[in-house]
Amino acid sequence: MSRTVIRGGLVITAAEEIHADVLIEGGRIAALAAHGSSYADGWSADRTIDAGGKYVIPGGVDAHTHMDFPFGGTFSSDTFETGTRAAAWGGTTTIVDFAVQSRGHTLREGLDAWHAKAESQCAIDYAFHMILSEVTEGTLKEMDLLTGEGVTSFKLFMAYPGVFYSDDGQILRAMQRGADNGGLIMMHAENGIAIDVLVEQALAQGKTDPRYHGEVRKALLEAEATHRAIQLARVAGAPLYVVHVSAAEAVAELAQARDKGLPVFGETCPQYLFLSTDNLAEPDFEGAKYVCSTPLRPKEHQAALWRGLRTGDLQVVSTDHCPFCFTGQKELGRGDFSKIPNGMPGVEHRMDLLHQAVVDGHISRRRWIDIACATPARMFGLAGRKGTLAPGADADVVIYDPRAEQTLSAATHHMNVDYSAYEGKRITGQVETVLSRGETIIDHRTYTGRAGHGRYVPRASCQNLN
Ligand code: URP
Ligand code: ZN
Ligand code: ZN
Repeated sequence: MSRTVIRGGLVITAAEEIHADVLIEGGRIAALAAHGSSYADGWSADRTIDAGGKYVIPGGVDAHTHMDFPFGGTFSSDTFETGTRAAAWGGTTTIVDFAVQSRGHTLREGLDAWHAKAESQCAIDYAFHMILSEVTEGTLKEMDLLTGEGVTSFKLFMAYPGVFYSDDGQILRAMQRGADNGGLIMMHAENGIAIDVLVEQALAQGKTDPRYHGEVRKALLEAEATHRAIQLARVAGAPLYVVHVSAAEAVAELAQARDKGLPVFGETCPQYLFLSTDNLAEPDFEGAKYVCSTPLRPKEHQAALWRGLRTGDLQVVSTDHCPFCFTGQKELGRGDFSKIPNGMPGVEHRMDLLHQAVVDGHISRRRWIDIACATPARMFGLAGRKGTLAPGADADVVIYDPRAEQTLSAATHHMNVDYSAYEGKRITGQVETVLSRGETIIDHRTYTGRAGHGRYVPRASCQNLN
């Protein structure tokens, strides 16, 4: 069995920071021991990686991606091959992508289609959540089957009437089922019925530019839906995970519920922490690059999101990576903002942007690893294998250079999309080397991975939430 030792780095997990050497054997972490200790010095290995002056951190776990995802008459521009390769470049070694049940089809058909898209394509390990577009007796029964196959979380939409939307009764039924079978309900919390009224009114007034996407998708309608989802989960006796939280008012709803001891959880994304409605208002249709839902908010909301991440009212930062090229895809909405495909690229930059948040003083180093690696792994049934550096865990390891300087740009990123949402942004810190199950997939900023290295990871049920 091949042995690798990583020597001299600062090992950072959600729990601690220690100058330690890491021994890898057969694709798993075999041991950690204090750097310079006679125990660690005694390890023999086929390969030694010098991590002096660097951080040694768990590979990132991005619990919200959409590769090859159908939306608004087109598909997100990253395939599983290109998207997982870009993720690897950015130090993410596991994604949980959303398989889609399209209307008129079963969950089984949706899941099989997503397995076919990902099979033999991925550079890193992957798992699936399931989007329910129809809650029926049939799909409720299928939820039980899928949880047995390691698809243990289900996304419902209070937005997008006529496409993915579920009404309150359907949501309640799915939550009740999840309470029984251990499946976690993930909620896109926006009042889509009210939003559609505001969209129609805005367009009738000639308000067609991308910035109106942000104006009609009001923070209050995110907060209202978040509140309603929490109450429905209470009635069902189910836990709840709210995805892509962007509004301060929605964070307040989560915080209030958590103060009551309710099992409700929230995720936010880098775009809400670093970008704002100023970007949506960029002229010449450039704002379309930033159209996603929930939408970017005025800058003032960012403080509440950072605070939520520090206090624990928000637990996870995922990317909601859902890229559409500006040319030919975002352009579908020229003259009508409601036709701009919703979603933004980001899978490559989450670890770096959150390291920048450490540098800027928003979060600690351990919290960085907690919200980007450990907690998403734990909450989504990957504890013990992903998100930490501990004996027995998969050797998904990133050597991170905290002093490297980089500038984010479409000219240098690896995502299959023709713009960067962070063009020109300076970042302190950069991924240097990445191991996935002990195999080097990025070696001193050269890609050495391959499509098909990444494996499907069935997940345990999402019961380890707190
Ligand atoms: O705008 C977004 N977020 N697109 C992806 C679909 C979703 O709602 O997560
Ligand atoms: Zn969503
Ligand atoms: Zn999403």
